[in-house]
Amino acid sequence: MPPPESPPPPRADAAGLAALRADLAGAGYTVDGVRSLLGPVADAALHREQPLAADLATRGVGDPAAVLARCFALGMPVATADLDRALPGLTAVGAGALGLVELGAGDARALCDLRPYGDEADDWWVVSDQSEIARGGPLPPDHVLGVGPASMTVAQWTPRRPAGRALDLGTGCGVQALHLAGHSGTVVATDLSERALAFARFTTSLAEVPVDLRAGNLLDPVASERFDLVVSNPPFVITPRRPGVVTYEYRDAGLVGDAVVRELVRTVGDHLEPGGVALFIGNWETRDGQTWRDVWTSWLDGTGLDAWVVQRDDQDPAEYAELWAGDAGARSGTPGYEDLYAAWLADFAARGVERIGFGVVALQRPTGPRPPWSDLVDHRGPVADAMGPTVDAGLRARTWLVEHDDDALLDVAWSCAPDVTEERHARPGAADPSVIQLRQGGGLGLTVPLDTVGAGLVGVCDGSLTARQALGAIAALLEQPEAAVTATAIPVLRALVADGLLI
Ligand SMILES: C[S@@+](CC[C@H](N)C(=O)[O-])C[C@H]1O[C@@H](n2cnc3c(N)ncnc32)[C@H](O)[C@@H]1O
Repeated sequence: MPPPESPPPPRADAAGLAALRADLAGAGYTVDGVRSLLGPVADAALHREQPLAADLATRGVGDPAAVLARCFALGMPVATADLDRALPGLTAVGAGALGLVELGAGDARALCDLRPYGDEADDWWVVSDQSEIARGGPLPPDHVLGVGPASMTVAQWTPRRPAGRALDLGTGCGVQALHLAGHSGTVVATDLSERALAFARFTTSLAEVPVDLRAGNLLDPVASERFDLVVSNPPFVITPRRPGVVTYEYRDAGLVGDAVVRELVRTVGDHLEPGGVALFIGNWETRDGQTWRDVWTSWLDGTGLDAWVVQRDDQDPAEYAELWAGDAGARSGTPGYEDLYAAWLADFAARGVERIGFGVVALQRPTGPRPPWSDLVDHRGPVADAMGPTVDAGLRARTWLVEHDDDALLDVAWSCAPDVTEERHARPGAADPSVIQLRQGGGLGLTVPLDTVGAGLVGVCDGSLTARQALGAIAALLEQPEAAVTATAIPVLRALVADGLLI
């Protein structure tokens, strides 16, 4: 069967966009507006790509935001007269001229997905292709993805420090570029797909956010350019290179195995200013008895980049096949699905792949000549919604630690971070605790066990005593040599500073 075809992308006509912007705002078609229209349950279900509750909540409702939600988020036909009322400036005919809808006899049907999206500071709308549910069938190979869980992960983990020049690699619908514009002087966004760039142009023009959009493979469009921040939700999905396996532009860069992520690691440093950061997500394969840390150590070798890699999950080849064989609309139990599943298993077997890791990667180019640091962490549990500040602080803390010796570390009067609490557990009736641990309320939500010296040190870290003074007093109290107490405390102190429990 030939693959399904995509409609043409919308056209970013300035007059039409201005009318559309005014109409969408006037209709209250915003994140908050849609949430109050649908209610929290239907709104959350829609975010999980379950449209029925939102359909029931908007059926027969003439409110402009309801008409827009039915048309552009649910992909349902709406009466032309209703769309005219919801878009009084643009009109249904104008929406047709922009390529947003197809007009029928008395009704209009969306050709794309257009949804409100925002952060704490801004309300935007993101335009993308319709999901498989709104389309009612499998996705075409040139599908342009809307905002999904992976987009949100990248957005949430990006350190939002002011950046002179920022790059969004593989911009798709343009969502990361919108976020970057809030804290960057110039935003460049690239994509291999001209179709994706058309969506990004529409999204960013509708938001009146200037973005320099460029077509090309990976970092080719920015050859010899440098950035303070590079973000990417790259096409990292490992895909078998076999006849019959459709390749989707939105998730697959056409390379074998995890080569696209490796390629990014090896080359992005050439495009970072000193102190510049690259933040992206991806998959990595472990083969023939390797650990994921072995893979990352070899990838980073010779790049000169600092690296903080947080592995959030890992899967075996069958789990990975189940995740991605069904992602674009193939259904379990159909012969097509089983062929795909088998192709993934064969592809992994051919390379001796045992596990496939997934996680978030923060790379930093050092500001001067020094050996790079790396911290490869496996952390599966829930994390804070906004991880950007944690990444920002974590990069700064780890950089400070590598640039300062133990004497400098001991001469700082550290404070315990405000989100840290201490837990003590004792056997019933025992006078002293058998377990003392710190719990981090924000960020990675770490739990850190402490020994007596560590607990004593953190207990007095209120910014008034240096670590050296505190450890001197603890050594006296424990009647132990100060040098020995200090030596055991230094690695603990370094770890607590790196992870932001001491600031
Ligand atoms: C997973 S989507 C990310 C979209 C968006 N940035 C987000 O965060 O949701 C990956 C994007 O990379 C693009 N892409 C695929 N292969 C590429 C390549 N070789 N070079 C640059 N971009 C590529 C796809 O067209 C797609 O828009």
